[in-house]
Amino acid sequence: MKHFNSCSIFLIATSIHVAFSLLSDAAYHGPFPKVPKDMGTIQLGAFIFDNADLLDITGPMEVFGAPFNNLDIEVNFIGTSLKPVKTAHSVLLTPRYTLSNAPKMDLFFIPGGPGIASVMNSTKIMRQVTKRVKESTWTMTVCVGSAVLAKTGLMDGYNMTTNKAAFQRIVDNSKGMNINWIKRARWVQDGKYVTSSGVAAGMDAALYILSEFTSFANAQNVSNFIEYSWHKDANDDPFADLYP
Ligand SMILES: *[C@@H]1O[C@H](CO)[C@@H](O)[C@H](O)[C@H]1NC(C)=O
Ligand SMILES: *[C@@H]1O[C@H](CO)[C@@H](O)[C@H](O)[C@H]1NC(C)=O
Ligand SMILES: *[C@@H]1O[C@H](CO)[C@@H](O)[C@H](O)[C@H]1NC(C)=O
Repeated sequence: MKHFNSCSIFLIATSIHVAFSLLSDAAYHGPFPKVPKDMGTIQLGAFIFDNADLLDITGPMEVFGAPFNNLDIEVNFIGTSLKPVKTAHSVLLTPRYTLSNAPKMDLFFIPGGPGIASVMNSTKIMRQVTKRVKESTWTMTVCVGSAVLAKTGLMDGYNMTTNKAAFQRIVDNSKGMNINWIKRARWVQDGKYVTSSGVAAGMDAALYILSEFTSFANAQNVSNFIEYSWHKDANDDPFADLYP
């Protein structure tokens, strides 16, 4: 048998390396990805739907959209159509784009609320959401929005969290999926994904993301300005104890 020359060994090594990087891209569990140098304005697309939770959406948008947050970012709402959605708190929010016509979103955002049931019930919407999650550089969920993310099937082997009041229900609903649901966490970062606990915890997760995008001091400044007591430690979750 002919011996491999150094060139073919190099080629084999290269293809193993390429195959390995593709594999690790598919299941990246490292630190939260940095803002790429050439990114320009970060496009944030917040998916909104009927019966979404109002604060799940507006809390994080207060942080991301703050004009003094030192972030080059544009925030837009994305609906299943352009019709205003009625949140679970009656307030109407108007999408600028639809899931099908929105440009690529760098940061894709999924809130929770009782409306997730009909979102998850629609194969068409779930297909579009899955595409948005896949093409995003970062994906963030608040509260039971993590159940929608789980339903995409992309979270195999990932750590996630959700609202502690709904924790067991969400875990039971994702039976058969290999997801490590973290019971005590204000938010969980795993690779490009940040999933937060219930409702107001979304603001802590948003401040965490802002701190990663800019600096800790800058996120602290924003939380001071909006007079919000930021839970800076992801493991500091007083609500986990309420549901033993
Ligand atoms: C996932 O959670 C476990 C604890 O359950 C932890 O040991 C591990 O480091 C976490 N993985 C990532 C990628 O954060
Ligand atoms: C789910 O879809 C079915 C069939 O389209 C419909 O009958 C049912 O009401 C839907 N459930 C929810 C929660 O939207
Ligand atoms: C925080 O705010 C203070 C006062 O508004 C400002 O002087 C300082 O530069 C800010 N720090 C950061 C990191 O943005």
